Amino acid sequence: MKHFIASSLPALALLRAVHAQDTTTTTVASGTSLTVAATTVAPVATLFPGETVQLTDEVLADVSASIQNETISNLFVFGDNSSTTVSKRDWRRCKTMPGDLLWPIGLIWEIFDILLGRRLIKPTPLAAYCYPDRPEYDATKCTSVSGGWLTSEVHEDDPTSIMCPLYEGRTCMPPGFNYTGTCTQGSYPTYVVNASSVAQIQLAVNFARNLNLRLVVKNTGHDFNGKAAGKGALSIWTHWLKDTKFYPNYRATNGYVGPAIKAGAGVQVFEAYEFAKANGVTVIGGEAVTVGLAGGYTAGGGHSPLSSIYGMAADQVLSMEVVMADGRFITASATQNSDVFWMLRGGGGSTIGVVTSVTIKAYPKLPTTTVTFNFTINDCPNADAFWTGVEAYVDNVESFVDAGTYGYYYLGASAFLIGTDYAGSTDYYFRMQSFVAPNMTIEETQALLAPWFEVLDSQNITYTPWYNHADNFYDPWKAAFPQEAVGAAMVKTASRLMPRSVFQDDDLRQRTYAAHKDAIDKGLFIAGFHLTGTGKAVVPPTDTSVLPAWRDAYAHIIVGGQFTSDATWATIESTSLFVTQWMDVFREIAPDSGAYMSEGDLLEPNQKQAFYGANYARLYALKQKYDPSGLFFALTAVGSEDWEVQVTDDLPYSWNNNGRLCPV
Ligand SMILES: Cc1cc2nc3c(=O)[nH]c(=O)nc-3n(C[C@H](O)[C@H](O)[C@H](O)COP(=O)(O)OP(=O)(O)OC[C@H]3O[C@@H](n4cnc5c(N)ncnc54)[C@H](O)[C@@H]3O)c2cc1C
Ligand SMILES: *[C@@H]1O[C@H](CO)[C@@H](O)[C@H](O)[C@H]1NC(C)=O
Ligand SMILES: *[C@@H]1O[C@H](CO)[C@@H](O)[C@H](O)[C@H]1NC(C)=O
Ligand SMILES: *[C@@H]1O[C@H](CO)[C@@H](O)[C@H](O)[C@H]1NC(C)=O
Ligand SMILES: *[C@@H]1O[C@H](CO)[C@@H](O)[C@H](O)[C@H]1NC(C)=O
Ligand SMILES: *[C@@H]1O[C@H](CO)[C@@H](O)[C@H](O)[C@H]1NC(C)=O
Ligand SMILES: *[C@@H]1O[C@H](CO)[C@@H](O)[C@H](O)[C@H]1NC(C)=O
Ligand SMILES: *[C@@H]1O[C@H](CO)[C@@H](O)[C@H](O)[C@H]1NC(C)=O
Repeated sequence: MKHFIASSLPALALLRAVHAQDTTTTTVASGTSLTVAATTVAPVATLFPGETVQLTDEVLADVSASIQNETISNLFVFGDNSSTTVSKRDWRRCKTMPGDLLWPIGLIWEIFDILLGRRLIKPTPLAAYCYPDRPEYDATKCTSVSGGWLTSEVHEDDPTSIMCPLYEGRTCMPPGFNYTGTCTQGSYPTYVVNASSVAQIQLAVNFARNLNLRLVVKNTGHDFNGKAAGKGALSIWTHWLKDTKFYPNYRATNGYVGPAIKAGAGVQVFEAYEFAKANGVTVIGGEAVTVGLAGGYTAGGGHSPLSSIYGMAADQVLSMEVVMADGRFITASATQNSDVFWMLRGGGGSTIGVVTSVTIKAYPKLPTTTVTFNFTINDCPNADAFWTGVEAYVDNVESFVDAGTYGYYYLGASAFLIGTDYAGSTDYYFRMQSFVAPNMTIEETQALLAPWFEVLDSQNITYTPWYNHADNFYDPWKAAFPQEAVGAAMVKTASRLMPRSVFQDDDLRQRTYAAHKDAIDKGLFIAGFHLTGTGKAVVPPTDTSVLPAWRDAYAHIIVGGQFTSDATWATIESTSLFVTQWMDVFREIAPDSGAYMSEGDLLEPNQKQAFYGANYARLYALKQKYDPSGLFFALTAVGSEDWEVQVTDDLPYSWNNNGRLCPV
């Protein structure tokens, strides 16, 4: 049997390309109920080569004819054909895990791998190189993994590693970060599809759904709540979907005509920015160098150094290609599958499908100024001067945002200028990582900053602003935003969006400043932003599911609590609870606002309201419509309240991904 399958399947040429290039129809697998007829608006976007390789009913018929065993070929059928496989009764069962009776045998994985064109990986934890009792042990590789552990590259280039290992279970940490001295798989997925084509993603989606497997999607692994991990899961890894294409004159179905860029799901912010610069345009991405552009970032809304003039990343999307939970490949835009288009622009990653590419608006080249500076307690005559300097920033947030600028700042009390050493520490520091002034000269930026700097000067605070200016956004961005440290299981964060009204009201603004000081006094730190989700140069689209609170927000404040990398679960639990509870200070100042889901708190109270606002009911209904069996799951994602992770670490359920996924 095994021999028969192994020798005959390649001849199938399953991955026979379905050449759909350059058509204006939706070019998707035939027969899907989701597709619509060609539109006369004729979007010019073409499919990337990997998107033309699709799984269709015809291909599946060939598979079935070759395998000559329905039990096996049924594992790959689409959701709309799966009456013979997973019945509705099975939708409310725990996901099948390795070791379970129903976990597929090796032969089945082998057939799957053959159909995938040998893109299946059986991963081991990245730091397994560092454990002498593991077969992967390799001292040289260990040195490079532990040396690079705080950089995002080692994690994003690994099939399963994530940048917040707390959510994996800290089961295989490298030396220097090590917790237990043992290395186990934890919630790093069991198998990974290293995706290079749509057909592979469709096969993985069908296989996981038909076998009731836990499915995760990993792009870069940046998510603050470790949403790209899952114990016993099959993972779809989108990182290598790196295609880009520039359209000088794209015609979108929503009426937009102008430059656009199409980016594969694996394209990262720096790659998108480089590509835009090379084509003489500007695109909206995060401040972070290595976050994925088209994955969790855009799906969750996505804020940018350019948001105060151009809005959220989700606002920029003109069209997207998606493999849906039933395995069908569709195009979503303002006129095609518009409810999917709505949901995937704001409703978060890992909900109803796997996005394979997005086409986003591009803007003309934009002259930009950035300013970087810091002052610590040592640069101030006394602590009062320090805090007066911080208060003056809060007092100027409204005028800064009104001018279309963005600022990313850190505030804490630590000799290392990172975090806060302990409650009561007076090693205060304030760092303006970067103040970004799009469309402004250095002189204009100085004039805007003058009211704040006058206060710093009057307080005798020493600081040295470092200005960068170029005729484009990319160069000053590159100078001003170094890579940020990731990978240490040492922080727990929460977010609050603070609306403009707070900065216009003397009392609420003063309380906002006082909250900053109180957080530091209590041992927390702040990483905050001044920005808004409604760009001053544009009118935001009304057909996105971006959290409405973003439109009024003038600041996004992340508050964090810290612990050491060898902290016990009990310490992590108590610190986490403290952060969540302390955050009431900001919640009470802005009770009707919300929190940014992609940088939010797993334990956020009234979480659905805070992360999704008034959109939640519709998001949840669409989740039921397009993913009725709950194939997609991630902590905090739409529909996640119907499931729990039966965490094996000494933590409450669903505090990380290290456990079996079961219906509540
Ligand atoms: C250092 C750092 C800097 C950051 N800077 C910013 C910033 O400037 N602005 C901002 O808005 N956010 C920022 N973030 C937050 C960032 O937006 C989120 O972490 C986001 O989830 C990252 O998306 P990803 O696809 O890169 O990561 P992943 O962790 O791989 O994925 C995140 C989630 O999206 C899902 N997903 C990924 N790809 C797809 C896909 N193709 N289809 C469907 N689901 C998918 C995953 O399953 C997971 O649930 C930052 C985070 C970090 C760690
Ligand atoms: C699967 O469903 C599609 C329509 O949704 C239909 O065209 C196709 O024939 C079905 N295939 C099988 C094997 O039933
Ligand atoms: C089909 O494959 C399954 C799984 O390997 C096996 O149990 C079953 O006996 C096979 N059926 C036939 C008719 O060969
Ligand atoms: C991990 O930590 C334990 C306990 O602190 C220690 O005994 C062990 O040597 C460490 N292992 C590695 C590989 O660093
Ligand atoms: C995944 O695929 C890419 C190419 O698409 C390849 O460069 C990379 O080495 C693969 N990674 C693994 C771990 O197989
Ligand atoms: C940039 O500034 C110029 C001159 O003030 C103005 O005409 C233009 O609209 C601005 N562009 C944006 C995107 O705000
Ligand atoms: C700042 O320094 C000047 C001159 O040294 C001094 O007169 C003034 O009182 C100082 N102000 C503060 C707030 O420390
Ligand atoms: C703080 O600013 C000084 C210059 O004023 C600079 O030398 C130093 O590197 C900065 N520190 C940080 C952590 O940015």
